[in-house]
Amino acid sequence: MKIKRENLMIPLSKPVINPEMIEAAINSLQNEKLVLGESVFKFEESFAKYIGVKHAVSTNSGTSALILAFNAIRIMKDNSIIVPSATFVSTVSSAMLLGANPIFAEITLNNYTIDPNHMAELIYKRQNVKAVVPVHLYGYPAELDPIMELAEEKDIYVIEDAAQAHGARYGGRKVGSIGHIGIFSFYSIKNITVGGDGGMLVTNDEKIATIARKVRDCGRKGKYSYDMLGYVFRLNTVNAAFGLVQLKYLDQWNKRRRAIAALYDKLLSDLDEVITPPKPSQTKEPVYHLYVIRLKNEKVRNALGAWLEDQSIQALVHYPIPLHLQPVIKKLYGFKEGLLPKTELWAKTVLSLPMFPELKDDQVKYITEKIHEFFEKKIYEEREWVKKGEKWLQKLV
Ligand SMILES: Cc1ncc(COP(=O)(O)O)c(C=O)c1O
Repeated sequence: MKIKRENLMIPLSKPVINPEMIEAAINSLQNEKLVLGESVFKFEESFAKYIGVKHAVSTNSGTSALILAFNAIRIMKDNSIIVPSATFVSTVSSAMLLGANPIFAEITLNNYTIDPNHMAELIYKRQNVKAVVPVHLYGYPAELDPIMELAEEKDIYVIEDAAQAHGARYGGRKVGSIGHIGIFSFYSIKNITVGGDGGMLVTNDEKIATIARKVRDCGRKGKYSYDMLGYVFRLNTVNAAFGLVQLKYLDQWNKRRRAIAALYDKLLSDLDEVITPPKPSQTKEPVYHLYVIRLKNEKVRNALGAWLEDQSIQALVHYPIPLHLQPVIKKLYGFKEGLLPKTELWAKTVLSLPMFPELKDDQVKYITEKIHEFFEKKIYEEREWVKKGEKWLQKLV
């Protein structure tokens, strides 16, 4: 039998699925209520303990956890939220669906998270700001101290989007536990999955947790009585049972991710053409949901993406279009290119390399050898590869 080429590829990401997880899932299907069974509450309890918060409310996606978060702080039409434009669409669409307006802040190019100075400037300038949403992009903690300080002064909420940062620490505390609310995603390739879509809202505020719990379950008060309007955002029991086993391995997997990142850093350190990701520091412990490098310009980035694909290495762009330039948002608000120069440069120059706990050291070596070859042979100058790079990007947008 001929093996398909795509099956030989080193993927960008790959979830760990072992017999223990499969058994837990089958066991829950056979022995528990399918919806809001015991595993759901056990998963919530374990996750709250892991993050270091009082309450955890599971959901059927990170997006629904965000919608619950904005619901719980009673975001209303014409309220504003301050968000980085360098993030996944749900960070902002979840609030926009409830009528809020996004105010986009710049990122700092040394760690790709919201620039606290620009955020402060926007808060002082604008009325009606109800929340700020720092995103721990790629698993790297955002600069939370100045954000929390300013939020307190201005009496606004901080909702941490930790969808990519399960277990990352800022100042010794797990991200998600520092703002008023934290949200996580368990989408299949996140650092921990539930065997499909899933999410979690965490908070130390009992009132917020109570609203979130109700709103995720139709606004239910009793079996057939409702004192709020709500959604069906519940996490299925089978997914919670799966996630509960995954959680046991999370620290071990994150440690492996950090070791892979350190190896990439070392093997790429002699290449001036490659900017490696921000390093762990005394106050910040990242979890490398993604290992993202930055190149000189869009042409080089795209050619390298196409070149790696040709060598059976999957590389992707997170994300090729910043949110303020996404067609749906641009059309609504009339944002123009040039509004956020650093974010726009980020979108044009970042490239995510394979990163998952089962990635082998030899594979990392192979990937970095191919990157060296790309620069040694000046592949980025060849017309053929420039064209291939353009096509490669087209597949992503
Ligand atoms: C930064 C960020 N926020 C929110 C989400 C939404 O999570 P989900 O895909 O589980 O709805 C994601 C998921 O990709 C994400 O990366």
